Amino acid sequence: MPYEFITGYTNGFDDVHFVDLRSDTISKPTQAMRDSMYTAQVGDSVYGEDPSVNELERRSAELVGKEDAVFVPSGTMANLLAIMVHCQKRGSEIICGNRGHTFRFEQGGPSFIAGVSQNCLTNLDDGTFDLKEMQERIRSIGDIHEPITSLIIIENTHNMCGGRVLPLEWIDELATIAKRHNLPVHMDGARLMNAAVASKTPPARICRDVDSVCFCLSKGLAAPVGSVLAGSQQFCTLARRYRKALGGGMRQCGFLAAAGIVAIQNLERLQLDHDKTMRIAKAINNMNSDLVRVDLKSVQTNILMVHVDERRVNAQEFLQRLADVKETDTYRVSIKAASRDAGCCRFVMYWEITDEDVEMVIRKLELTILEFHARSKLVQIIDQQ
Ligand SMILES: Cc1ncc(COP(=O)(O)O)c(C=O)c1O
Repeated sequence: MPYEFITGYTNGFDDVHFVDLRSDTISKPTQAMRDSMYTAQVGDSVYGEDPSVNELERRSAELVGKEDAVFVPSGTMANLLAIMVHCQKRGSEIICGNRGHTFRFEQGGPSFIAGVSQNCLTNLDDGTFDLKEMQERIRSIGDIHEPITSLIIIENTHNMCGGRVLPLEWIDELATIAKRHNLPVHMDGARLMNAAVASKTPPARICRDVDSVCFCLSKGLAAPVGSVLAGSQQFCTLARRYRKALGGGMRQCGFLAAAGIVAIQNLERLQLDHDKTMRIAKAINNMNSDLVRVDLKSVQTNILMVHVDERRVNAQEFLQRLADVKETDTYRVSIKAASRDAGCCRFVMYWEITDEDVEMVIRKLELTILEFHARSKLVQIIDQQ
């Protein structure tokens, strides 16, 4: 049950401190973005005549070390376009991770829109999958019974694995295998810039050996709309063509691209989000709770996975208590977050989350964890009687 959202009951109090950590997509454009949007030069971008879009695409291609880039409305469309371009043959199949966004959260678009099936490998907790198993999944060419392996997709950072940064050596090894089999690799880099900042590695180095990559402007980068899909000139020409077919040809969208240009100018700022995530993680860890815990070494970027012992408290209950404000609460704080499954909640940071918000979140978490401990103890006593 991913992305289950909870509405809190705040008892009618009008001094409640709200903190929304459901996703970094919640982030709103900065003042600098709003200023640049107001004065942006625009034109018809479907004709290739929007100077702001052209500038965003040029800078983005340079940032990720590819020949060209295409501005698209969303990360979902960027992934779908990559799949459509790479999988030209009918009967094509993608190899991807079973916790990957393209498999889990894009409505099966690769199948129902692009006509491509997905062959899923088990994602390990660090967002990777087993490369030996990957090789075994590559279909033998010419077998009339089998689909045609046409693409490998990886995700960096990995959303459902808690914002983990894919190890560079793993990407390099995967790309070597793919090349040997003449297979292209697409990186869903919705949060690629978080990976780059956290690992202190230039984005172009991270995607050096992948054939295409997309990154979102509207998540931690805080632009209002849009993603960029990058690859070779030939790849981007086809992606532009399919973008039009999907209804993603936007006219004077330079207003949006202008915000995107500001978004990619100050990537280092993302480290602040990572630091806030770590502060909350450490506070939970310091409680030494066996009921609610975090794995500190898995906290690398702006996503925090909090694990609850679902036999004693499930993620939904936990989130409900974080969102609710009771009369007896010392601090009136309502936190919104999402659950990944019955045993795991997801908290995501972005630029508008202040130090005060972080403090409030920590206090509410501490209060909630203590409360659930008390309840659990009570249940234990009753069970023993
Ligand atoms: C890893 C990943 N890829 C793709 C997307 C899709 O982006 P969008 O919501 O812009 O379609 C998301 C959105 O959360 C994501 O986390």
